[in-house]
Amino acid sequence: MIKKNIFSAIQPTGNLTIGHYIGVLKIWIKKQYKYNCFFCIADLHSWISIKNKKKIKNYIYSLLSIMLSIGINPKKCNIFLQSDIIEHIKLYWLLNCYTYVGELNRMTQFKNKIKNKNFKINCGLLNYPILMSSDILLYNTNYVPIGYDQIQHIELTKIIANRINKLYNKNIFTIPNYIISKYGSKIMSLCNPNKKMSKSDINKNNVIYLLDKFNDIKYKIINSLTDSQFPSKILYDKIKKPGISNLLVIFSNIKNISINKLEKKFLNISYKNFKNIFINELNNFLYNIQKKYFYFIKKKKLLKKILLKGKLKVKKIAKKNINYIYNCIGIIK
Ligand code: TYM
Repeated sequence: MIKKNIFSAIQPTGNLTIGHYIGVLKIWIKKQYKYNCFFCIADLHSWISIKNKKKIKNYIYSLLSIMLSIGINPKKCNIFLQSDIIEHIKLYWLLNCYTYVGELNRMTQFKNKIKNKNFKINCGLLNYPILMSSDILLYNTNYVPIGYDQIQHIELTKIIANRINKLYNKNIFTIPNYIISKYGSKIMSLCNPNKKMSKSDINKNNVIYLLDKFNDIKYKIINSLTDSQFPSKILYDKIKKPGISNLLVIFSNIKNISINKLEKKFLNISYKNFKNIFINELNNFLYNIQKKYFYFIKKKKLLKKILLKGKLKVKKIAKKNINYIYNCIGIIK
């Protein structure tokens, strides 16, 4: 049976958070054996916000080391660097010509980012969903694992793909669907559980980084926002108890125990005691990743070899696919 294709990517723009792990990486780990997976380090996206090649390079190696540390197996999936496959840009230009400015202006992430008046808005920020669409549509992708914040971009990808298919009366592009984690598609900030946990948050106490040390974890969890219910109740209720619900989702995902079971287990326990147990579990979980991470991050030769192998394999597929697309549209005759 032919395996279906999965495409997913992460930008190397900072240290990864527990949100990345729960939101997408956990799905990558699970799906890598059953699907034909393309896991991309989206470094071209990084240039929207970072203009320093050394910084981006460090984040690339860090991201790859994290992937290996959590069990992404380069023998089972295609791991590659976006900038190694120029076909993404070839498709990007084409898709630009089939996307309306109004569609890009409506993207929530774009609207939120331009609220920051200190940020000079470059065209890359507006056009970024088209580069995402190119990443996805280049590989006949069936499924895209993402966090909640990316759903709108996948919906736009579908619109663009359908538009082109219809115009040429041909199924040039496979229409992708997204996969999101049932509870973990939006891990929230620790001090403001109504806001997404983000690696670029200026308040680092909002964020659990995968490379955080024990004392930082302890401090951040102790100071995370819960609620004033008395006596305290460890219950999942996203509306009334966003803080505790967020901690429960994280706990459930790192231990692979259902939220329901956790609620029963911690029924009569105080927030303070719950947090102490949580800190230890989180620390054990991160320690196991970090032990492997500090092994891999030093193996630059191995990391480069993995990216080269990925490039050689993916390049062939991308070249064939872009030729097919250009042919269908009429750019290559
Ligand atoms: P990025 O790099 O910001 O994040 C990578 C993925 O992690 C998810 N994520 C989260 N999920 C749950 N809770 C959180 N707190 C959390 N933080 C991040 C994001 O939703 C995302 O799925 N544009 C993309 C990268 C990209 C891409 C693609 C993704 C480029 N091309 C093609 C899918 C398909 C981005 O900036 O994600």
